Amino acid sequence: MSAAPSSLAHDHGVITRWRAFLPDVTTDTPVISLNEGSTPLIHSPRLSECAGRGTNVYLKYEALNPTCSFKDRGMTVAVSKAVESGVRAIVCASTGNTSASAAAYAARAGVACVVLLPSGKIALGKLVQAFAYGAKVISVEGNFDDALRLVRELGADASTGVAVVNSINPHRIEGQKTAAFEIIEELGDAPAVHFLPVGNAGNITAYWRGYREFHAAGRAKTLPRFAGFQAAGAAPIFFRTRVEDPKTIATAIRIGNPASWASADEAVAGSRGAIDIVTDAEIIDAQSWLARHEGIFAEPASAASVAGLLRCVDAKREPCATCPLRNVPEGANIVCTLTGHGLKDPDAARANLPAISSIPAELSAVRAAIGGG
Ligand code: F0G
Repeated sequence: MSAAPSSLAHDHGVITRWRAFLPDVTTDTPVISLNEGSTPLIHSPRLSECAGRGTNVYLKYEALNPTCSFKDRGMTVAVSKAVESGVRAIVCASTGNTSASAAAYAARAGVACVVLLPSGKIALGKLVQAFAYGAKVISVEGNFDDALRLVRELGADASTGVAVVNSINPHRIEGQKTAAFEIIEELGDAPAVHFLPVGNAGNITAYWRGYREFHAAGRAKTLPRFAGFQAAGAAPIFFRTRVEDPKTIATAIRIGNPASWASADEAVAGSRGAIDIVTDAEIIDAQSWLARHEGIFAEPASAASVAGLLRCVDAKREPCATCPLRNVPEGANIVCTLTGHGLKDPDAARANLPAISSIPAELSAVRAAIGGG
């Protein structure tokens, strides 16, 4: 199936926009795109106020990608390359978002998709997406780390003819690095500090590559410091030890043995950044705060970046020696990545829902319900 030239004319996805920085994509590569990327960088007046010192906090709202998470940036490159190499099917392990994205791009490409998910730990919206896009869904009795091990084993056997599209696939990281390009284009330079949630650690790896490439190309004068946040019950990088049974309400980052651990360490050391933890209560508070104060609904894992920022600026806390926000210049730019949409995980949001009582369909009843006559 070949794309009509007219359909390409309307494509402004990651490959079309950033082709010059994606050397693996050649004229032989079929572009499988859903117009991902180019997501908004939203200024947050209230977070800027919280951070103080005239700083400006921006939210990179990756929820506005086609499958509502940042995964689409890497998936367009990984699936395009997989199709170029003639595979029959793509496969991934996932805490939910990778599987939703893989399923969508496989559908677009006309190849099969198999997803291995930790049983019972996937947010409902993501599961619905995988089925809607027609993936074969396999529920594994184990956690994400078990599912990834099985996918690696499957991928190692060339006779299966499948491509693994987890972030261990280098094309994924290549696509994901473009978020850093977009931030630099909009701000005119890298931010002073970049907050982001860390799970399997592919994203921090990709951002670091993107920032360094634009810096080397002279398109940014500076490099950011990373502030990566893991959920307290799933924080192997912070505690420097594998977590056998990771636990967190933020199921997207419920990972005990990150595949890109070593490159996350490099990103943190190279950027003079830090990895820290936030509790589930802080994550849920940040998610709700963001929705109520800025009108932006992000899933719990995404809110870990904002929870981290709020923790760093909390006057009641002892300032932490490694905090990248320390000594941030007056008026500096700060970015928090919001990796996925709040609607993906309705159960987490539902926990805060009050009882809703209905009223008769009469104006007086509406007035009474609003209160104050
Ligand atoms: N935020 C969300 C919403 C995610 O889905 C993930 C990872 C992360 C943050 C962490 O990014 O793994 O690159 O450090 N989700 C993967 C998945 C693991 O299977 O969807 P990371």
